[in-house]
Amino acid sequence: MSNLESKSDQAPFVVIGAGQAGLQICDSLRKGGFDGRLVLIGEEPELPYQRPPLSKKFLGGELEEARLAFRPAAFYEKNDIEIVTGTVARSLERDGRTVVLEDGTRVAYERLALATGARIRPLPCPGAEDERVHYVRTLADSRGLAAALADAAHLTVVGGGFIGLEVAAVARGMGKDVVVLEALDRLMARAVSPRVSAFYADLHRGHGVDIRLDTGVDTLEPTGRRLGVLAGGAHFETDLVVAGIGVLPNVELASEAGLICRNGIVVDAAARTSDPAIVAAGDCTMHYNGFLEREIRLESVQNAVDQAKIAAASMLGETAEYVQVPWFWSDQYDVKLQMAGIGMPFEEAVVRGDMSAAAFSVFYFRDGRLAGADSINSPLDHMACRKLLAQGTLVSADQLADKNTELMKLARA
Ligand code: APR
Repeated sequence: MSNLESKSDQAPFVVIGAGQAGLQICDSLRKGGFDGRLVLIGEEPELPYQRPPLSKKFLGGELEEARLAFRPAAFYEKNDIEIVTGTVARSLERDGRTVVLEDGTRVAYERLALATGARIRPLPCPGAEDERVHYVRTLADSRGLAAALADAAHLTVVGGGFIGLEVAAVARGMGKDVVVLEALDRLMARAVSPRVSAFYADLHRGHGVDIRLDTGVDTLEPTGRRLGVLAGGAHFETDLVVAGIGVLPNVELASEAGLICRNGIVVDAAARTSDPAIVAAGDCTMHYNGFLEREIRLESVQNAVDQAKIAAASMLGETAEYVQVPWFWSDQYDVKLQMAGIGMPFEEAVVRGDMSAAAFSVFYFRDGRLAGADSINSPLDHMACRKLLAQGTLVSADQLADKNTELMKLARA
């Protein structure tokens, strides 16, 4: 660690957070010609890895752990990225441009990037501290859940969002009995329309999942080898609980150092924080999105990658602006959901394709314009929607609903 403190003429560029955004910033800095010292500090013990498979193929045993790493160790050596894993940055001293690590090590920086991500929102009910209550955010979480699932017959999922439903699908694939408790009256309400929520409720019920809407968990209590679940007046026993009730942005490092934060570290379209020497990217940012023309905090691979590229450009003193169409996906059973744009809230929705054949898209309109689409097993619709949105092409609901309209041609027109 002492080499981190070593004095040289020029302090390094330092990136805090070794997830998708942090790694992308480093990669983009090198690709952009930065040849100074570059330090990447990450809390987790592993080299940066992909998170999406943690609730999908990795959990289901279809993807080996070794395949999760974005890059092998040789990449960091070759690109001269000083990666420091298993290390928490405790505080920032902005006046002296210094990061203080948990063990007191002081790391000076010339430019700093915060890619601190998000952490799970802990289940707030009594009994939630029981060791049979799991979450899925880190590789360690997913490893722990996979091991526990192997010995469980009955799983209770709290939260019918992306994480909860993906875990439910994997567990059904393993033959487990699964109950999903969702506090709201529909699934994935944050991201998709009621129509898509209903499709997913049917899908999961068709696979034998006991979906209970309007149901939060009140109490968990150990009953011998099992856990008693009290939820919306019902009482049942389970072997294991997985909570996927959202994430919280890791803003404390920034907010305690006086950077402006509101539900995320506030950055402008160039990914700059309120301190000119500090940029931020990924799940932790509340940013102005030029495509949406408003502030938003996005939790997605797309945002991590695209915003990180802009953050790196800003660190290099270039002018760049974040104007990207948001997109996201979720795999549940053999059904792929792809979301383009931000469809919610919408004023008009139109279906293209065949809902009963599980191959359709719902296109959303807001202020008379296309705002986004949820595509179910319809990757071409998804790609076309992203293009239409990026190009600002004017399209009507009738055009989109008409199977004879070639969307890709519309996008190119
Ligand atoms: N009981 C039951 N359900 C709850 C409770 C509760 N106490 N609190 C919240 N919920 C429900 C919400 O209504 C919502 O449907 O939990 C769901 C959380 O869904 P998401 O917001 O999608 O969060 P999550 O599934 O945890 O995923 C977090 O991980 O997949 C990534 O980036 C993705 O944004 C996503 C993040």
